[in-house]
Amino acid sequence: MDLSRFPRRRYTTHPTPLEPMPRFSQALAASCPGGQGPELWIKRDDMLGLFPGGNKTRKLEFLVADALAQGADTLITCGAPQSNHCRITLAAAVKEGLKCRFVIEERVPHSFHDDASGNHFMFRLMGVEAITVVPGGSNMAQAMQAEAELLMAQGRKGYIIPGGGSNAIGGLGYAACAQELQQQCFDQGVSFDRVVVGSGSSGTHGGLLAGFLGNHIQVPIVGVGVSRDPADQEPLVHREAQAVLDLVGIPMTVPREAVVSVGGYWQPKYSIPNDKMVEAVQMLARTEGILLDPVYTGKIMAGLIGLARQGFFKPQERVLFLHTGGLPSLHAYENEVLGKAPVVKL
Ligand SMILES: Cc1ncc(COP(=O)(O)O)c(C=O)c1O
Repeated sequence: MDLSRFPRRRYTTHPTPLEPMPRFSQALAASCPGGQGPELWIKRDDMLGLFPGGNKTRKLEFLVADALAQGADTLITCGAPQSNHCRITLAAAVKEGLKCRFVIEERVPHSFHDDASGNHFMFRLMGVEAITVVPGGSNMAQAMQAEAELLMAQGRKGYIIPGGGSNAIGGLGYAACAQELQQQCFDQGVSFDRVVVGSGSSGTHGGLLAGFLGNHIQVPIVGVGVSRDPADQEPLVHREAQAVLDLVGIPMTVPREAVVSVGGYWQPKYSIPNDKMVEAVQMLARTEGILLDPVYTGKIMAGLIGLARQGFFKPQERVLFLHTGGLPSLHAYENEVLGKAPVVKL
């Protein structure tokens, strides 16, 4: 899979660490059938550039390069009030000398507060040019187009990045991650039986799958839904993986059965804490000293823990968890993750 013909900015200097998690594996095994669980490893995409980086950093390397190639002076994107994607897009804009504007969707009514901490604080600190707040369910593409037209009327040029940076160009970031992982496995002499990844706007899951298929990496990927159950999520991932393969020019149809996701861990609603997320965040922090966020990676890890306890992984299977970042929003949910505020029981 040759990605070299696509323009790319570089926001991370090294491959992200690929590490075993022996203490977490041991703690989890104790609650698995027969006291045996998988051997867990982690790929630290929470250590990507545009600190504190995350999965969006990889997508933005290709998206921002495309924006610059098109002569844009402003990035326009959208997300929820505590969006990691918006924060990292803004960091990329600042680094490139571009302006940045957001359309924020209040998916949970009244969840936007101008004095909020976490990512929202960083929006203000890094100097977002404008934030337009719209109600949940709004047409985000239309709202971003309105921003672009506003700029055009001023003689400026906006570049629209879809929610989560998930289109074919953004997905190239995770196809590149597949190549990075393949090289690391070779260098470190390690192989995996399965990879567990978050599945939201689908650029991470779909891009990684395209990268696995395009590089003949025969390791199954399981996506844990952060906002949808499989019936709604899998078609999105399939479409994204296919779009990435098509863009790269690989004449392959993504097999439907290669798209696997699990649901049941994101409820009661996107971004609203639950008890399984709290357990996952506490367990990883207290066994490996690695922090997860409450909106995405905490729920994704809860999915991995749940699958292990159901006996989904064979004993001694080596399973890789992809940490996709998101840490600043942890500060907006401190009481919930410390068990000091009530959360929904799943
Ligand atoms: C920390 C984190 N993990 C996972 C995801 C989900 O990734 P994707 O939207 O590419 O499916 C997101 C999306 O915003 C995220 O911020």
